[in-house]
Amino acid sequence: MSDLGRILIAGTGPTAVQTAVLAGRLPGAVGVAGRESARADSFFAALADAGGVLRAEVQNEQHRALAGRCRVREVFRGYGTVTGEWDTLILTVTADAYVPVLGQLDRRVLARLGRIVLTSPTLGSAALVREYARRLGADPEVISFSSYLGDTRTPGGTPGATVLTAGVKRRIYAASTTPSSSALERLRALHASAGVHVEVLGGPVEAESRNISLYVHPALFMNDVALRAVFRPSGPPRYVYKLFPEGPVTPSLVRTMVAQWRELTDVVVALGGAGVNLLAFMLDDSYPVRPESIGPDDVARFEELPAVHQEYLVYVRYASLLIDPFSEPDGDGRYFDFSAVPIRPVFRSETGEWDVPRMPREDYYRTKVIQGLARQLGVACPTIDGLLAAYEDELRRAPGERAGEPLSAAFVVQDFGTDLDIIRTAIGKAS
Ligand SMILES: NC(=O)c1ccc[n+]([C@@H]2O[C@H](COP(=O)([O-])OP(=O)(O)OC[C@H]3O[C@@H](n4cnc5c(N)ncnc54)[C@H](OP(=O)(O)O)[C@@H]3O)[C@@H](O)[C@H]2O)c1
Repeated sequence: MSDLGRILIAGTGPTAVQTAVLAGRLPGAVGVAGRESARADSFFAALADAGGVLRAEVQNEQHRALAGRCRVREVFRGYGTVTGEWDTLILTVTADAYVPVLGQLDRRVLARLGRIVLTSPTLGSAALVREYARRLGADPEVISFSSYLGDTRTPGGTPGATVLTAGVKRRIYAASTTPSSSALERLRALHASAGVHVEVLGGPVEAESRNISLYVHPALFMNDVALRAVFRPSGPPRYVYKLFPEGPVTPSLVRTMVAQWRELTDVVVALGGAGVNLLAFMLDDSYPVRPESIGPDDVARFEELPAVHQEYLVYVRYASLLIDPFSEPDGDGRYFDFSAVPIRPVFRSETGEWDVPRMPREDYYRTKVIQGLARQLGVACPTIDGLLAAYEDELRRAPGERAGEPLSAAFVVQDFGTDLDIIRTAIGKAS
């Protein structure tokens, strides 16, 4: 099992801190690089105040193995300022920032890298990163994780040197562009020692397609109820996972979700991966329900069932998780209100601009990339097209709704053409 050498973490959010704490348990030095922004400034100031030490704390005792500290050996403000020899680059930035971050790195730094690790990629991210690195004269191994290992926040919300990991996924997946990668094995063992089970798969597409957000967020957010709650909030909050009218979940939303799963599966299969059983993935990798609500037979044969039966089961899944079915009821027989996750509205950022919260901003990028892949592969995706059209209609109304007010780039209809062109080249080479 090889070591990862000197590790540079790109990103200054909560996942960067937890990732640094894990990486700090390996023999090599750990450095952190971030962009120049108001949020990154507060991270770097907090790191300096903490004497160059990052800390991760855990909410639940069972996740104690993820807690710890990491002394950061080098800090770079601005990706263009990174110098020195780094063997492993861990990208903890959002997937739409991979190309901008790599593009700012000094070519010599990039050429020296043995590998790039993507902690929260989307479908096509490893192909994007590998092809883009090659264009810049580098040829690193690329390792994709299916998703970030859990739920990590900065207390108070401002980026800082101490984070709290409040939840951990039961299982995540990972894969490398290098077959039988010893670096991936080292990362798997590192996660195992911290209590996180990583299942190694055959190729990055397999890992990248095992991210539940790809399957559920487009339908949950790109609908009239959620879009209003995000972009034109009025009245009391609406909740992401609640049934209509408290939230967006209706039989029609579930029909869209199941149809989008089929289209995404066609894309994954065309890329050489294997589709997932949506219901099994929701219950085994996300949140289980009681067998009284959905039995194991229905889960096992989900993929063969008629569409209307699949939709029924997915609706039952959301209905069964309105409360946490494994929580202890209170004296009135009420269980924990599990689905009370408010839909966050647009907000003013540190710079005074209106911005769009991560959900659905990131989902827009991810879904546009999937749509672009579908077009390239000749896969029909009318459901995905409809979801994106609804989202883009909302973006187009925003300047009228907030006339004269500064809006961030997240309000602009985009084609993400740069990333898609690179991914198309990578796919063309692979086929
Ligand atoms: N935190 C979690 O528990 C969690 C759970 C699941 C998935 N994830 C995923 O993990 C990723 C990172 O999450 P996080 O919580 O650490 O997020 P975060 O606080 O939003 O940090 C992301 C980092 O990306 C940077 N960034 C964003 N856009 C950029 C751009 N265009 N160019 C360069 N840098 C850019 C940010 O810089 P600024 O601070 O300057 O914006 C920040 O350093 C996200 O994709 C998120 O969806 C996180």
